[in-house]
This record gives sequence, C-alpha cells and structure tokens, in this order.
Amino acid sequence: ATNVLQNGPLAGRHILITSGPTHEPIDPVRYIANRSSGSQGTAIANALVALGAQVTFVTGPARAALPEGCRVIAVETAREMRQAVEDTLPVDAAIFAAAVADWHVRNAGNSKIKKTAKGDIPTFDLVENPDILAQVSQRVTGRPDLVIGFAAETNDVIANATKKRTRKGCDWILANDVSPETGIMGGAENDVTLITSSGVTDWPRASKQAVAQRLAREIAKSLTGVHN
Ligand code: CTP
Ligand code: CA
Repeated sequence: ATNVLQNGPLAGRHILITSGPTHEPIDPVRYIANRSSGSQGTAIANALVALGAQVTFVTGPARAALPEGCRVIAVETAREMRQAVEDTLPVDAAIFAAAVADWHVRNAGNSKIKKTAKGDIPTFDLVENPDILAQVSQRVTGRPDLVIGFAAETNDVIANATKKRTRKGCDWILANDVSPETGIMGGAENDVTLITSSGVTDWPRASKQAVAQRLAREIAKSLTGVHN
C-alpha cells in the first residue's frame, strides 16, 4: 500500500495527472489506440500521493493498475479527457503523461461497418483532437503554477522536445525516446531528459517508479521552494 504522508512536502497541494492511451471509436466495436500502458502515469500518481499530495488521476483505458489514494476519473476519448481535465481545474500542478490520440474519426457511426460483397474498403476522415496540454498551458486564468508534459519522440528527441515545450507553453517537458528498440512504450523502465526554461538534464535510465519518485521530488521543490 502507498505510504500517505498527511504532512509530506506536498500536503495541501492538488495535482492533476492524465495517463494512459485514449481510444477513438471507428464504430461501436472498433477503435484507434496506441501502445501506452499507463504505468508511468500510475507511478507518478503513487509518488505524489506518497509526498502528501491530493491527486486527481484522469485515465484512458490503461493496462496498468490504478494508483492508490487518488480521485480517479476514467475516460475513453481525447475529448472526454479534455472535459475531465477542465472539470478538475484549478489545481496547483498538472502532469500530462497520457498518450493522447492525435486524431479521431469524423462521424464515427452507431452501427458496425460491414464488409461488402464487392470488397469495398472503408476510408476514414480523421479530425485533430484538442491539445489538452497546450490548452491548459496557455490558459489566461486558472493556469496551474506548474504544467508538465511528456514528449514522445522517435528521432531528434531533445531538439523536438525543446520545440514542443515552447510551442505548447508548458513549464517542463520530459522527453523520451519511444522507438520500438528502446522498449519504453509499454515497458517497465523509462529514460527521460528533463527540459525546463533553465536547461536540459539527462536522467539515467531507471524503473518508471524511480523516475516518478525523482519527478515528485522535483515538483515538491518547485511548488514549495524547499530543497530536501
Ligand atoms: N498531449 C495532450 N493532448 C493531445 C496531444 C498531446 O495533452 N491532443 C500531451 C501529451 O500528454 C504529452 C504532450 O502533449 O504530455 C506531448 O505529446 P506528444 O504526442 O509527444 O506531442 P504532440 O503535440 O501530439 O506532437 P506529435 O505527436 O506530432 O509529436
Ligand atoms: Ca501526439
């Protein structure tokens, strides 16, 4: 069980986390998804609860266990995730660990798409999903004091992630290489680089739990100004 510290460094702070993949329906029985397991998000939630934070965990359909001691809001699509995030604000900090689908299918129907005798192949119109991280980062009112995103990249990881941080307007980006050969997407370990306005710090490859604990300590330092 998670060790909840009522008097931990994050006591009294409300932190929002998005986690897991989203599922975007094609029809009532099919969907578009991605390889996110949700385990990094769950580990971050557990690490923040252990430092005394009040955590709201907005999760898509993930394989990972749910974190303990959090308020959980389960969603399916990116649009539902955005709504749940907006309903949760204001918060002190927000961490966007979800692998949000970039597109949904326009006019996903209520009836199953059937094969035809002629062998016609269906085509789908895709529509871009709302960028939840960018929208929260760019809020004029009710912006969290600390907004943290992940940048999932397969090439030019640091350059792409650095651009992503400024484009979206978040405070910190954790860049990770999700190339299949790293085994990170869906695996037990993570290898991240923290990018902030003051520089780039490469963290050693470690369990997702250890990465989460380090991140939780950095968040506590940033929100409280206390270094311990
Ligand atoms: N994100 C989000 N909403 C989206 C897409 C992404 O909140 N619709 C968040 C993710 O949770 C992550 C960050 O934005 O924290 C970066 O996600 P990523 O997929 O790496 O970036 P994109 O902007 O979608 O760019 P691309 O996939 O084209 O690299
Ligand atoms: Ca994306």
